[in-house]
This record gives sequence, C-alpha cells and structure tokens, in this order.
Amino acid sequence: YTITVDAKGSGPAIDPDMYGVFFEDINRAADGGLYAELVQNRSFEYLPVDNRAYTGLTSWSAIASAGGSGSIAAVDDAARLNERNRTYLKVALTNTGEGTYGALNSGYNTGIALQAGKRYDFSVWARTDAATGTPLTVTLRDQGGLTAYAAPVRLTVHGDTWRAYSGTFVATGTTDAARLAVEAGGTGTLRLDMVSLFPRDTFMGRPNGLRRDLAEKIAALEPRFIRFPGGCLVNTGSMYGYTAEDGWQRARSYQWKDTIGPVEQRATNANFWGYNQSYGLGYYEYFQFAEDLGAKPVPVVPALVTGCGQNRAVDDEALLRRHIQDTLDLIEFANGPATSTWGAKRAAMGHPRPFGLDRIEVGNEENLPDAFMARFVQFRDAIKARYPGITVISNSGPDDIGTTFDRAWELNRANGVEMVDEHYYNSPSWFLQNNRRYDSYDRNGPKVWLGEYASQDNKLSNALAEAAYMTGLERNADVVTMASYAPLLANIDYVQWRPDLIWFDNDQSWGSVSYEVQKLFMTNVGDRVVPSTVRGAVRAPEPVTGAVGLSTWRTAARYDDVAVTSADGTPLFSDDFSAGADRWTPLAGRGTWSVVDGAYVQSDTSAENTMVEAGDESWRDYDLSVKATKLSG
Ligand code: AHR
Repeated sequence: YTITVDAKGSGPAIDPDMYGVFFEDINRAADGGLYAELVQNRSFEYLPVDNRAYTGLTSWSAIASAGGSGSIAAVDDAARLNERNRTYLKVALTNTGEGTYGALNSGYNTGIALQAGKRYDFSVWARTDAATGTPLTVTLRDQGGLTAYAAPVRLTVHGDTWRAYSGTFVATGTTDAARLAVEAGGTGTLRLDMVSLFPRDTFMGRPNGLRRDLAEKIAALEPRFIRFPGGCLVNTGSMYGYTAEDGWQRARSYQWKDTIGPVEQRATNANFWGYNQSYGLGYYEYFQFAEDLGAKPVPVVPALVTGCGQNRAVDDEALLRRHIQDTLDLIEFANGPATSTWGAKRAAMGHPRPFGLDRIEVGNEENLPDAFMARFVQFRDAIKARYPGITVISNSGPDDIGTTFDRAWELNRANGVEMVDEHYYNSPSWFLQNNRRYDSYDRNGPKVWLGEYASQDNKLSNALAEAAYMTGLERNADVVTMASYAPLLANIDYVQWRPDLIWFDNDQSWGSVSYEVQKLFMTNVGDRVVPSTVRGAVRAPEPVTGAVGLSTWRTAARYDDVAVTSADGTPLFSDDFSAGADRWTPLAGRGTWSVVDGAYVQSDTSAENTMVEAGDESWRDYDLSVKATKLSG
C-alpha cells in the first residue's frame, strides 16, 4: 500500500511538552526501586497493611556471634527518635566476653545489591545507656556470614541521647544478595533508628537520590513532564494527617507535607497498594528529579473524594480548607522565593531557586463526579486567585465510557475546566478500533491529558496497538496536549499491576516493548501534524456499533482456548482461561458465566451469548470470526 504525505499541508501543532511519564509508587516503584535506599524498613515503622503481616521487624532478624546474646524489639515509647518517626529498634545486650549481638537486614528481593569498587554510605541514629559507650561493627555479608563484601565499618555510640553516626563501605565483591549486619558489643540498652545504606553512585550524584539505572531509563525517554505521586495512591485512605491532633492516621492519602525535610523526620505510610512506604522519595526529590530530567513537574493532590473503589466524599469543611491551603503551600514550596515560608523550606533542602511549577492536578479518577467537582472548583478558584498562571487539571473519572464519564465531562465543560485527565487500560483491539476517539472532541472545550493508558499486556502486539493509537493522539494534538503511559515501574517481586513500562529487580532493569514505542515517539516529537492518506489493502477503522463475542452459542456450555480474529485472520485477542476470567466480562443481562477448571462456562437463556474483554463493554460491528474449543454443553 501507499502512504502519501502532504508535507506542505497544515495539521495541528504538537505541543513540545506532549509526552511525559507518570510515576506512581505502585509495584514498589519507590522503596526498593527508584529510591536508592538499600535497607528495607530502615525506620522500623512497618505496620500490617490489609491482610499482610508487616511488623516493625519486617526484613530484620537477630544475629549473635560466639558469646553474643540479647534481644531485639521494635518499640514505640517515649524514647522515640521524634514524634513522626516513632518506632525504633531496642537492643537489649547481654553479651559476654568478645561476644556481639545485633540485627541483620535482608534488603529487597534477593537482598542488597553491591558492585565491587563502588562506595556505599552507611548511617544510623543511635543512643546507648552503656556508660563507656557501645561499640558497633557494621558489615556487608552473605546470609550465612561466610562471605564479607567490604571491610567492616566500626563506630562507638556514646550517650543516651539520639545522635547520627555514619561510615562508608567500599565493596570488594559484586552480589545481588548481601545483608547488612549491625552488631554491638558489651551490655546495656542500645537504641537504633534510621539504619541506612545508600550507594554513593546515584542518578546525577544526588544525596538521598535515585537508583541510577532506573532513573537513566526514564531519562532516556526524554520526558517533558513527570506526573507524581499517583494514581490511586493520592486520594485513597484517610484524608486526615499523621499528627497527634488527627490521631496518627495510617493508610492516608498522599499528603505532600509528610514527605519533605530531613528524612528522619518524615512520616511513613501504609499505602493503598498494600505495603509500607518511607517517603524518602518525597516532594523535594520529585521536583529535583523533574528538573534533572528537563521535565515539567505535575503533582497530583487529593480533592477529598476517595477514588479507586473507595468512592467516598469527605464532608469536613475545615479539612477541605486545610487541603486547599496545603495545595497553595505546595505551589509556594515549588515556586516561592527563598524568603517565603515554604520557599525557605525548599531552600533549606538545597534548592534556593524555584522549580518552575506551571500546572497541577487536583484529584484522580473520582467516581463521584458531582462531589468531586464541588470540591475541585474550590481548589481551582483558590489557586487561580493567588497563582493565575497555574493550569489546574481535573479528570474524567475512572472509566472512559459510561454515565460517570459523561457526567464528569459535562461538569468539566460547564465549569470551564482548562484540562481534563483521562485514563484507560484496554485490549489491543480496543486501541486499534478507537484510533479516531479524539477526532470528534470539541475543539473549543477543555484540553485532554491522556494521563494513564496501556494496552493490557507487555507483548509486541500491545506495543504496536499503542503505537497505532498514538498516531491518533498526534493527529488530534490540538485537543490532546499531554499523554503518559502507565504504570511506569514494576519490581518483579512485588507486582500489583501489569503491564508496566520498565521492570526491575534489585540490580537489573529492562524496558518492555511498550517502552521502546514510548521512546520512539517521545524522542521524535514533530512540530506539527502533516495530513497523510493510506491507499491499498488497509481498511479504515469502522464505527463501533453491533456485537462481538460468542454470539452464536447458546445455553450452558463450556469453552476453552477462545480466539477472536478479524475476517482476514488477524488475531485480536485470545484466552485459554488458565489465569481465570479476569480479562472477560459478560454484557449486562446476558446470563451467568464463570470459569471452572480452566474452562469458560456460560449459562444463558437469551437468544445470544456474548462476552467481551473486561472493560470493553461497547457494542461494535466488526467482521469477526470466533474460534473456541467446545468442551461440553
Ligand atoms: O496506573 C495504575 C492505577 O490505574 C492508578 O493508580 C489509577 O489512577 C488507575 O486506576
């Protein structure tokens, strides 16, 4: 076939900031991932999350040498390091002779990753009641203690008030499974907190910085913006704070003030994605990373409506005012002069110059459009009154179709919203069939930010479908002015969500095929779209009407190995049901269905049986053939 490009023709200009990334602390993307800290649960604050039995001693175990004895416990009492870092490790020492006793940290995944010749900075806060002090021996070793990966760091803790101690290792071996051992001699009570091991070699050499290989993979995309910190993480859980006043709320929405200042004074949180997060990677680090990438920072703040299945509007006027003020303070933290209250905090952290924030998102995927919009406009009006140049971004709820979506758009339009963030995850066929989605969007309405999207797998066919779809985004660059694939990162041992753009364990990382597609588009952004036509054996996408699915089979039947192809035999989607039925959904009112023993079972008294891929509930008229192995019925 022939593609004809009208180089002189004029299509919409493409915003140079069109493509960026969306970082959310999901799939343990931060601790044990992008945040380079190597010690897991360094501040002993882990608490159970959902049904997961995290404790203050998660990833820690006791160790003793010959003659060493004692006990360890994670304790929250008046001897704590500070009000927001409440639990510490209490080590009761009953050693005899040269014996030592202490705690071993097992890091993330297989352990602590070290590279021979590189430097690693150890630090700890400690206090002891031993009159002559407590000697500490800190080692990098294997689990059994037979191999050492560096010469030990030796320190002596003096005095029963909290002080920071530090030392540096130079690794003599390379491994992905080291342990950090902190052993103490003598007797008495030793208290430890913020036990930390950081590679010196972080991205751009930043202290408290980012894991180099992951940050470099993100940098290689040349993102023009970075959205953070979520996602569902932002507006789920309690909207109250981690303060004595609010009752030390755990499982909170992401509240930026928790995440700045000295790391030992930052609160930790039990997050929506089922694990504890340290906030070592906090708002200052996000802004710094954006600057290092040459990307615009795009923070997302909670709007006091919980999303992601929690679907609750919080009715507390004082709390709403506090969150609105927090958002104004955030803008001052980013942009205010070093003499302003919050600008001074940024300067104290090492960045007197402003970070140049020009847009902010309020809320994420709220399922209650009316309640959300009532709050959004209050945020927006307060921000605009003080900072008229800041773009305030809204969203269209969790679905890309349906009544919530329609209502959200109606409200966004009615309230003159500048930009609406849309999210959708769908099948490759959906992306192929919906290439023209934005052709019909109102040119005079709000701009669209496709803030989260992915075709639901990490195969080549997914990446191709995304690439095809992105041509549709660019063709509509006058409406779609920003786009970001999601999620960005996934630790292979802690996956809550797939597909993902970049995968990693504790010493390796690799991009998916979708990563290559994003890189191709993101590093080759044109100035404007030029009209093109295709002639030959290519069918133009067809309007979405009619039915697709197992529409010819009736009543109680079992099927396996279902494959749906287009008329020319092109595979559109398939499933052997071995992983359950989560990819499929029946159309409303069309019988019952389930997966039993790896087979799809359908029981239906209507004239048609229809099932579609999950999330793909639209009727469509497409020339399809469906094949399945019929097992019974
Ligand atoms: O990207 C994963 C999740 O998908 C985000 O947290 C949420 O916004 C969306 O539902």
